[in-house]
Amino acid sequence: MSPPSAEGFQNMQKNFWTEFKKPILALAPMAGISDAAFRLLCRKHGADVVYTEMTSIDALYYDAKKTLGMLKKLPGEKPVVLQLFGKRPELVAKAVKYVEEAGFSGIDFNFGCPAKKVVRHGGGVTLLKNLDLVHDLLKAACENTKLPISVKTRISINDGKKKITVFDFIEKIKDLPISALMIHGRSYEQGFVGEVDYEVIKEVKKRFKGIVIGNGGLDSPEKVKIMLDRTGVDGVGIARGVYGRPWIFEQIAEYLRSKKYFTPDLKYIKKMALEHARYNYKMKGDHGLVEMRKHLCWYFRGFPQASSFRKELVLFKTIDELKQIFKHIK
Ligand SMILES: Cc1cc2nc3c(=O)[nH]c(=O)nc-3n(C[C@H](O)[C@H](O)[C@H](O)COP(=O)(O)O)c2cc1C
Repeated sequence: MSPPSAEGFQNMQKNFWTEFKKPILALAPMAGISDAAFRLLCRKHGADVVYTEMTSIDALYYDAKKTLGMLKKLPGEKPVVLQLFGKRPELVAKAVKYVEEAGFSGIDFNFGCPAKKVVRHGGGVTLLKNLDLVHDLLKAACENTKLPISVKTRISINDGKKKITVFDFIEKIKDLPISALMIHGRSYEQGFVGEVDYEVIKEVKKRFKGIVIGNGGLDSPEKVKIMLDRTGVDGVGIARGVYGRPWIFEQIAEYLRSKKYFTPDLKYIKKMALEHARYNYKMKGDHGLVEMRKHLCWYFRGFPQASSFRKELVLFKTIDELKQIFKHIK
């Protein structure tokens, strides 16, 4: 495959994606989860790179206040990749400029999301049905930012008449300087359940010229090892496996080194949950504490003593109150 010509593209220089020691451990993009607080926590506990929640190109273009707020970061997060979704190439130039000015390390494009609100407008994974449009979106980004561009997609989608695969996608974008591809090893039709197709991921690694990150179903260090061994990918993206366990990245690194890994005790988990709550409060004030509720349920999953404190854990109003509750969870 011949490399893309530098002509017309701003983002041809060397970038952080090629500097990592492998395997690369990434926090996958998750709307409602991978906000600045959670990203920082994951970076501090072993993630090499973190992705933001998906962010609307249209909303950035029209200066929507809430979406502009999603450009806020915390010191220590870098490298951090902001993920965009949308389907209007003419809006991309302004959106990527915002992302560049906000100091992100890279920009990812979402071609994998099956959520109704995204798919209804022809975005996310349904863009695989219109690969010309995919190309136009990515070309607009490469022409208008120096930041490395990456993509995230699934193994296939069926449009009724034929199946469009990640290989069609790779073939279509081969003339563009795309630095990395995160592949969720499930089809659109599978949603978020069922077997991850390691054979397809292995073939993606062979065919895509940039960094390949495997994703899907990785909720333990052992499963990460299987993904790496069976596919040869450069790294892994962890999504639901990180719920209530931002330290999973450290466990993975330890397991890959020594075939064993630590199990956090209650004291460690309380410390982590408190740190998380502090960052959330710093970024979002009281609303950040409300958003902590779901995380707290995940942190204390599997601790029967904590379940008697469930009511308190959804009613606390301040960090001090949370600390007091923690004192009673033993
Ligand atoms: C709550 C939630 C939000 C997600 N949001 C995004 C998103 O914003 N962008 C994206 O590309 N994928 C998103 N995903 C998909 C994940 O990044 C990942 O591809 C998928 O969950 C499979 O990985 P897993 O089996 O490890 O969870 C989301 C998944 C979940 C569960």
